[in-house]
Amino acid sequence: MSAAKNYYLTTPIYYVNDAPHIGHAYTTLACDVLARFKRLDGYDVKFLTGTDEHGQKVETSAQAAGIDPQAFTDKVSQNFRDLAKAMKFTNDDFIRTTEERHKKACQAIWQRLIDADEIYLGAYAGWYAVRDEAYYGEDELTKTPEGKRVAPSGAEVEWVEEPSYFFRLSQWEDKLLKFYDDNPDFIAPKTRRNEVLSFVKGGLRDLSVSRTTFKWGIPVPNDDDHIMYVWLDALTNYITSAGFPDTEGEFAQRWPADLHMVGKDILRFHTVYWPAFLMAAGIEPPKRVFAHGWWTNEGEKISKSLGNVIEPNQLVADYGLDQVRYFLLREVPFGNDGDFSRQAMINRMNGELANDYGNLAQRVLSMVFKNCDATIPEPGEYTVEDNQLLDAAGALLATVRGHLDRQHFHEALEAIWVVIRAANGYVDHQAPWKLKKEDPDRMLTVLYVLSETIRRITLLLQPVMPDSTAKILDQLVISAGDRTFAALASGVSMKAGTEISKPEGVFPRFVEEGAN
Ligand code: MSP
Repeated sequence: MSAAKNYYLTTPIYYVNDAPHIGHAYTTLACDVLARFKRLDGYDVKFLTGTDEHGQKVETSAQAAGIDPQAFTDKVSQNFRDLAKAMKFTNDDFIRTTEERHKKACQAIWQRLIDADEIYLGAYAGWYAVRDEAYYGEDELTKTPEGKRVAPSGAEVEWVEEPSYFFRLSQWEDKLLKFYDDNPDFIAPKTRRNEVLSFVKGGLRDLSVSRTTFKWGIPVPNDDDHIMYVWLDALTNYITSAGFPDTEGEFAQRWPADLHMVGKDILRFHTVYWPAFLMAAGIEPPKRVFAHGWWTNEGEKISKSLGNVIEPNQLVADYGLDQVRYFLLREVPFGNDGDFSRQAMINRMNGELANDYGNLAQRVLSMVFKNCDATIPEPGEYTVEDNQLLDAAGALLATVRGHLDRQHFHEALEAIWVVIRAANGYVDHQAPWKLKKEDPDRMLTVLYVLSETIRRITLLLQPVMPDSTAKILDQLVISAGDRTFAALASGVSMKAGTEISKPEGVFPRFVEEGAN
């Protein structure tokens, strides 16, 4: 049996102290598009998401809601599953850190770290930010005008003194630097890589990895007074889902993960602590961590207190699911911060989706329907222009694959739009409606070239806009078996003689209420 190509990718697991918002939808959407793309490209994909349910922050939120933490997490975790469904995310597993399989994995990695003498018992005295669930050194803090100490993230810190187990992170500086050096693609984008490198070169302190002052966490093996630090617990989810501590079977096939997708705020945990924990426990680090940027809303930082949280469900209700999926990945170079604005959303929806792509499909398929007996015509000999367009469409798979392997969603979409725009230019220039009378045979060739171009573009857009592309592929009567990227191999093309169904517009224009 030939070994299938594997691809394992993960989202961060989301804190359940909050309802899902655009930031959560964004990270998982990016992974969903990659997962769908890789599946169509012949990979055996595992796509993991889930919820991070332990820690002080969640315990405090449960107390505020007046229910016990387990009942609280059951409720809020469900919101994230509902979001996945509403956004049509195709995750293969949904992990909750309160599950038994995860407790087992955490205790097993802890035991490995103890056995390797990478953890020792001491006492912590220092600053802690509950919002970030992170420890900070005095030198990292600043003071607000009111005199409160805050972390670089803006989170308030509190002084903590308690017995604690420590991970010997200080011993990992050189080994981490060597690891980054040997694996230049481990951290992306480049600017983030530089940030991490300078952080590690600045020197690492041993890391407190247990807490005693609250209870909502995974007990440390053989010392019930302590629960594990929530980030050691949370990061371990990536190996739990792959089957750890059983290191044979699925784990041998899946680990190391191909990609951890994260927001820029949690880069340090994934690129410093996590590879150090893993190497110390004798486990290979993941292959790549990509840190994306943050969204603002109409130029403002998104926050509950400002009341400007963007709810994914509302966006979908206002603009449509595929439109939102497209916008989020097209608007901002992936990796940069981005601003959500209603006007930008409408511009993309009306310009690129309704006018460029939607119109192309609608006018070409309508002409095939009306002028060719609703049948994909047989092409005659190709002209230079025909070949140019067909070649451009034919080259797209390799181009898009290259961009997506570097998580450059915006470039992948732009490359597809270059061909869409070329196809629209070709329609205008060839004017098939004129050819109908002047040169009907030539019209058949032109409509064939366009149908084939639309087929290729649409197959490639499936991961981003699954519903709309399915409708266009249905109109072209492409069977389910002919929708993978095997159907984009050179030499494979639209079957002439296929009877198509009645075309209908798939990308409505957004019209402001009250406008006519
Ligand atoms: N529980 C940790 C992750 C543990 S992973 C082992 C956590 N959870 S979180 O719910 O606070 O954040 C999850 C992700 O949402 C992060 O990657 C974060 O960057 C992302 N976002 C939160 N707000 C965001 C925006 N406004 N914009 C884009 N993404 C943002 O951190």
